[in-house]
Amino acid sequence: MEKTKALQESNQNPLLARYKAEVEKRLSEIYSADGWISAAANEALRAGGKRLRPILAVLTCEAISGNPEPAFPVGLAYELAHSASLVQDDIIDESDLRHGSPTTFKRFGLARAIMLSDSMIFEIFTMLARYGKSEISKEALVRLLELLGRAASLAAEGEMLDVALSRRGDIKTEEYTKVIGLKTGALFAASAASGAVVAGADKLLVDQMYEFGTSLGIAFQIGDDILDMSGDTKNTGKPVFKDIENNAGNIVLLHALSKADVVQKNTINSLLFKKWFTSLEAEKLLALLNELGSFDYARALLGAQTALCRSILAHLPPSHARNAMEELLQTVEARKE
Ligand code: IPE
Ligand code: IPE
Ligand code: MG
Ligand code: MG
Repeated sequence: MEKTKALQESNQNPLLARYKAEVEKRLSEIYSADGWISAAANEALRAGGKRLRPILAVLTCEAISGNPEPAFPVGLAYELAHSASLVQDDIIDESDLRHGSPTTFKRFGLARAIMLSDSMIFEIFTMLARYGKSEISKEALVRLLELLGRAASLAAEGEMLDVALSRRGDIKTEEYTKVIGLKTGALFAASAASGAVVAGADKLLVDQMYEFGTSLGIAFQIGDDILDMSGDTKNTGKPVFKDIENNAGNIVLLHALSKADVVQKNTINSLLFKKWFTSLEAEKLLALLNELGSFDYARALLGAQTALCRSILAHLPPSHARNAMEELLQTVEARKE
């Protein structure tokens, strides 16, 4: 795993690598004091993560204004919101593993996990207060607050819809896309839009970057659904087949159930809610999903979203930051982690 990771990182666009390292550094400085929550928060934040939301904010800001710096506080705010949502999502999904380590509630218990996610959310205010010392306008700061507050509400609605809809067996792609546009798209969207706001972009460009982030988030979640079925825990740091175990929203599964004949449907249904799979069951399921064209279907949907992203990127002037955003799209198209 280390070898693969090192290889992937050495192939990475230098800006992506540089901003990831910068985000890691600044994240590690947020919780400095010792204490029940600080220690647990540091452990959760240091366990890993791709840091895509802050990287997106920073690259968007640089692509528009030539300067990445103003986007760091708001980018970190989105990483805090995201990290809090993962702590909560793992409680909801009863998941044991995140970033290759025990999930926060498994490691520290429910009480500390709940307080930790609260603490991360409130830390966002401290983070945004850093703009008090910067040159961004009062209007821009208000816009950042609006975007963040709204995104958190939309993401919470999406997470809840995801849980509620998974009880139903007849969800259509359009409906599912709307749900993941909220659950995952909202934070990506607001993060990109916030990068544009601190870059001083006009409303049209901010809106375009919001659309970019929504499509990127939807593409990313479809990639996550594919990885839930066919990924490798060594790379993803989280369990496989969790969506089957929870009968949770997953576009590969939804497509398969919509195309399956009675016998195939029975095979899939017999695996739902299972806590673990034999290698034979896993192979049989993957063969069936391939036979039904469900992975191809999901990949085509993912590709349609990244194509939308590319059409929006074309509005930005050529730059190293825009190139890095293009490479970000490529990593989402070829996700392994
Ligand atoms: C995980 O997001 C939750 C989803 C939206 C699928 P990330 O894959 O971005 O989380 P990190 O990189 O592990 O923090
Ligand atoms: C994504 O949901 C989590 C959030 C957007 C909060 P999932 O349940 O699909 O994500 P993973 O697979 O646990 O990361
Ligand atoms: Mg989950
Ligand atoms: Mg979930």
